[in-house]
Amino acid sequence: MYRKLLLIALSAFAAASLYSQNPTDGKNNAYDRNVRYNELGDTPQMGWNSWNKFACDIDEDVIKMMADVMADGGFLEAGYEYLNLDDCWHGTRDENGFIQCDPVKFPSGMKALVDYIHSRGLKVGLYSDAGWHTCGGREGSLGHEFQDAIQYANWGIDYLKYDWCESDGLNAKAAYTLMSRALKATGRPIFFSMCEWGSNKPWEWGNVVANSWRTTGDIAAHFTRDGKYPSYSLCILDILDKQEGLRKYAGPGHWNDPDMLEVGNGMSVAEDRAHFTLWAMLCAPLLMGNDLVHMSQETRAILLNKEVIALNQDPLGVQALKYKTEQNGALEFWFKPLEGGDWAVCIFNRSEQDREYLIDWRNFCFTDTEVSNLSTSFDTVVYRIKNLWTGKEEGTTALPKNYNKMKTVKVPSHDVILYRLSPVSE
Ligand code: GLA
Repeated sequence: MYRKLLLIALSAFAAASLYSQNPTDGKNNAYDRNVRYNELGDTPQMGWNSWNKFACDIDEDVIKMMADVMADGGFLEAGYEYLNLDDCWHGTRDENGFIQCDPVKFPSGMKALVDYIHSRGLKVGLYSDAGWHTCGGREGSLGHEFQDAIQYANWGIDYLKYDWCESDGLNAKAAYTLMSRALKATGRPIFFSMCEWGSNKPWEWGNVVANSWRTTGDIAAHFTRDGKYPSYSLCILDILDKQEGLRKYAGPGHWNDPDMLEVGNGMSVAEDRAHFTLWAMLCAPLLMGNDLVHMSQETRAILLNKEVIALNQDPLGVQALKYKTEQNGALEFWFKPLEGGDWAVCIFNRSEQDREYLIDWRNFCFTDTEVSNLSTSFDTVVYRIKNLWTGKEEGTTALPKNYNKMKTVKVPSHDVILYRLSPVSE
């Protein structure tokens, strides 16, 4: 009982300090990519989250079904390890302030559900909010941070997504730091995913506070601004453009999060492929957001392309760079340095028309001066080319003797061509 009262007092005291601190105060503001919050997230997190498809319509049956597909359908094996419940799992707080799950939707209790998910070899994530209430109107963690962290740890939770609704007057850095300390104090390794939509430049301070931070508002399953989605959401192209300038902040242990995947939620197959490819290139968390029980073969093939996943999970952890654009911005060329001297190269057609492009590899030599210092030089190194969506080897980057044999590629509208280049050993 005394322990509980102490916790409540501690949380209230800690919460009071949230209103006074300035995020840009503090003497240690110089960003260091090698400094991290904890030992988790060496590569971007992978898993499934309930929000994009089910919103508040979740219960223990749906979650268990997803756990079964993840475990039996090849997803866990491909790297998708976290099964994350988003908003609306919450019930009320008990008489001591400890949060409970919704007894109608989760009649067996959270501990039993977590035990089931763990028994399938997966890890479990929950969602809360730094303010009074979550965006779905459930109990927030404000004033209960340490209590909530202890409750999560007691349940066996491995991941927390922490949102930013009803946070007026709060200081973001202080609020997120408080929860990050509360999670650490439990002694259980808990992946911490900040979700304050990029409002307070979390990339500038997030590496010591969390394992990832949302960079934007909510994603919509729309590729372009076609006007058919809520005004608080963003289409894929808008989210992509908002990642400009952020690559230097991402690295092992702390990742930019351009929001969860919308693959399988209504876009065309080409658009789903482009979205997945770009998120993989950006070292974004790969959190599936579709109904895993009912999905097309195409959706499955995209989500389970192990060679594309490998780009995202490459141990170097270097986010891709938009190297150049062509044809009035219609074609974007993205480069991502990989371990062992390999490079991922993505040609992305963001326009409404199919495009053709003559590839002369000599035009692509460059050095990544911003993050890795790695360079490509097609004059001195010959690379083997593998197309990761067709699975085919496509020769090498060596200049053909006959110029007419240079390759023109066709990139359909809203689609990508994705290559892995590997140095040909002498
Ligand atoms: C916010 C978040 C979303 C989702 C919802 C839940 O909008 O950005 O990702 O978690 O809240 O209500």
